[in-house]
Parts: sequence; structure tokens; C-alpha cells
Amino acid sequence: MWEFTLHVDRGRERTLFMQLANAIVEDIRRGRLLPGDRLPGTRTLAGKMGVNRVTVSAAYDELAAEGWIVTHPARGTFVAAEPPPGPSGRPHAVESAGLGEPAYVLPPGPSPTRWLQPARGVLMLRSNCPDTRLVRVDPLARAYRRVLRRSGGSLLGYGDPEGLLRLRRAIAEMLRGTRALAASAENVLVTRGSQMAIALAGRALLRPGDTVVVEEPGYRHAWDAFAQSGAGIVAVPVDRGGLDVDALARVAVRTRVRAVFVTPHHQLPTTVTLEQGRRRKLLELAHVHGFAIVEDDFDHEFHFDGRPVTPLASADPSVVIYIGSFSKTFAPGLRIGYLVAPSSVVRQLAACRQAIDMQGDPALEAALAELIEDEEIQRHVRRVKRVYQARRDVLVDALERRLGDAVSFAVPAGGLGLWIRVASGIDADRWAAASYRLGAAFLTGRAFTVENRYRPFARLGYASLDEQEIRQAVDRLAAALPEGRVARTKNTA
Ligand SMILES: Cc1ncc(COP(=O)(O)O)c(C=O)c1O
Repeated sequence: MWEFTLHVDRGRERTLFMQLANAIVEDIRRGRLLPGDRLPGTRTLAGKMGVNRVTVSAAYDELAAEGWIVTHPARGTFVAAEPPPGPSGRPHAVESAGLGEPAYVLPPGPSPTRWLQPARGVLMLRSNCPDTRLVRVDPLARAYRRVLRRSGGSLLGYGDPEGLLRLRRAIAEMLRGTRALAASAENVLVTRGSQMAIALAGRALLRPGDTVVVEEPGYRHAWDAFAQSGAGIVAVPVDRGGLDVDALARVAVRTRVRAVFVTPHHQLPTTVTLEQGRRRKLLELAHVHGFAIVEDDFDHEFHFDGRPVTPLASADPSVVIYIGSFSKTFAPGLRIGYLVAPSSVVRQLAACRQAIDMQGDPALEAALAELIEDEEIQRHVRRVKRVYQARRDVLVDALERRLGDAVSFAVPAGGLGLWIRVASGIDADRWAAASYRLGAAFLTGRAFTVENRYRPFARLGYASLDEQEIRQAVDRLAAALPEGRVARTKNTA
């Protein structure tokens, strides 16, 4: 709402109504008032300014006559869509809204990214996004309403930076039941998504000059969070068995490693699962070298073939900070994730959290706790898991039929995307650009490297598109293959 800030000067020679009119013009020029903004009624403005209503009417009449504002008898008074012509005949210059450039200098930080709104008609094979069209919003809305009503306002106040106790209990119980993680409420910190959990772990563990080891290919947003702590990032390769722990051991001998970030269940982006032997070795190395393992288990439930693998944290919670999220299993927009660690660590991380975010959203946390207690979340996961598995199969089938030997991949046992190698002779980045022009977008291997290096891979997320959209997207991928490199399909039926 526009706040009128002029203090009229009764001693000045200019009439009051002209002072008022000029001040409104000034606010339009500076972009404080935008085309189409509603101005207050004459009575309201006169009351606020302590002037006669006739004065405000005279100012509005003057501005309307000059073309700065328009008055609709029934609807009110609005800033005109375009400023009136100035003395030169061209419209008066109006500064664009916003504050312009700072006069101070910001030291370099992570490169600014913007949320990519899909262009109209472009099918986004987003790397790791669930389909929020599948969320039943009514149970969520009802739970929110119920908890707010019952709380008598207490959920609208300040609360515990560790998160609402009821939700921490519900999460701990869920983890004990489904992930063999012997956690209780005091081991759980509720965060805004796993991203905040990753950033808090980085903040607490790392100091400028420290080393954190990450998987490559891997998850860039985690690296950006660690870089903010001033840590050096060392990439260790991932192969079919997950993180190359022998390579990690060599790094740990040379360098004091403080933390290792892994996605061992469905590695992002390759979807491979860390082999048993490597799991044991990683935990051993943590003890030998004194580093913490930050385990990001962002999509634990979406394991389609066989049972999910239990987290590293269930084998040895003393060296692991375990991170989970409701972003993939329910909805990313709720921004609810969690971190599990010994209670002393949880308390310290909660203090870091308080410094930037005070606390979470207690009403939403209570509503989510209710949905977990009522098994609504668990039902949702069972339902969408079947849908995602079917989508995975449709994508695999469409790729085999339409792209043939232009790509090769292993069918992943879980996760929400496929990691595909493009055949030699096809430039993955050019193919992605051509696909985008034809209406299908995906990330290439480059996006998952520390140094933004070319890699002949693509990550095709399938969860956020329905089966028909997936087939359509693959048709576009096929049409975007370079000329002369039309796929030899395995099955032309
Ligand atoms: C590997 C990985 N970790 C963490 C996240 C962040 O999820 P959120 O902060 O929404 O829980 C994502 C999101 O795509 C992810 O792919």
C-alpha cells in the first residue's frame, strides 16, 4: 500500500493543492507509484494529511487534467497506464521501479541464479522435481486450519529454533520405523528444506581454508553452501559403485578433510547406490581422519526395485549428519526438511539457524505433523511412488524406441531421474540447446561438475511430467539430435 509521505508546508507560497499534486507526480516519476496503482479516496488522504478534502479534490482534478491519473467514478482513482507527454512531446521520464545500483561493494559470492520459469510450451525434464499436481491439497488445508484453530494463537508466536516438538517427534518415529535410525526428538532439527540443513552443517563444520570433499558429478547447491563458509572444495569421482572411496582415502592422507558430502542412496545425478564395501570403508575413514559425513538422503522413499538401503547414519550415527526432506516426498514449496545428529550438534546448529532465520513456521510444522500422524503423507508417498515408477518405465521405453543408440544408460533402481551418456559424435550441450528450441529442456553433465567442464551426459528428470508429456518430450529430444546422427532405433514398432 502506498504511504503518502509529503509534509505540506502551510507557510510556503505555493498553494497546498499544488504541493500535493507535485508530490504525487514525484512519487510516480520515482516509481514509488506504478501505473494502475490505486490512490486513496479524497476523504482518506485529506484525513491523513490534515488538510481540507476540497484541497485533495483540487489536486486530483489537476493531475487528471494533466493526464497523470485517471478517475473511474465507481472504482476510484488510479495512476495512468502511461505518463503524460512532457514539454518535448515525449512522455515524462519515469524511473523504473527498483533501487538501482549500490554505492558499496559486495565481495564475490555464489553466482546469482534465477528460478527458471518454463517458457510457454517447454516441457521441463527437471533434474529432481516431484509433480506437485499429485498433491491432495484438501487434507493439507484442513490440517492447517485445524491446528491453527486449536492452538488459540500459540502457533503464530515465536517458537523453538529446533522446530516444533510435535513434528520432531513424528519425524523421529518415522525414521526409527522406516530407516532403522535410532533417533529421538532431541536428535532432530527441522529446517527449511534439506538446503538449509546442508548450509547449517557447512557453517558449523567448516572454516575458511578447510577442505570439504564432494562427489563429482554431484549437487551444485551443496557446494555453493559450503563455499560460503570459505572452505576449499575437493571433488572425488563417482563410478558405478558410488563415491570412489580409495580416491577419498588418498585425498585424506594429503589434506586435513573436515567433511565429506555424499548422496549415497540415489547419488545425484547418477542415481547409483554406494556399494556395501564402500559404505564400510567411508565410515572407517571418517573415524581414522576425524571428518564428518554429511549424508543427503533427499529422496529415500523413491526406491522402486527392492527395498530402500538404510542410511549410513543408521550404521554409525557418531560420524554422520543425516539430512532428509519433505520436498520430494510431498511438496518442495513447503520448505520443510530435517537434519539428524547427536543432540549437542543439533543444539549448536539450531543456534546457527537462529542467527539467520529465528525459527521455522510452527503452524505449518504442526499441520505436517498431523498429516504424518494420520498417515496421509505415507499414503501420498505410496501413491506417487507407483506413478513415478510408471513414469520411469515410460521414459526408459521412449528413449529406447526413439533415441536408440544415440544414448546409453542403466535403468535406475530409484531416484527421480535418469543419467544418460550421449554417444560420441553428439555434443550434449548443443543437443540440449536444440531440444530447448523444440520445447524440451534438460541439464547436461556440465551442470554437475565443479569446474563447469563438458561431460557427455544428460540428466533427464521424469517425475514432474505425466506419461504423455514424457513421450512428447522424448519426441522433441529425438528431433533435436544433430543432423546425420538420427538414432538407429532398437525397435521401430
Ligand atoms: C541432492 C539434493 N539435495 C537437496 C535438494 C534440496 O531440496 P530441498 O531443499 O527442497 O529439501 C535437492 C533438490 O533438488 C537435491 O537434488
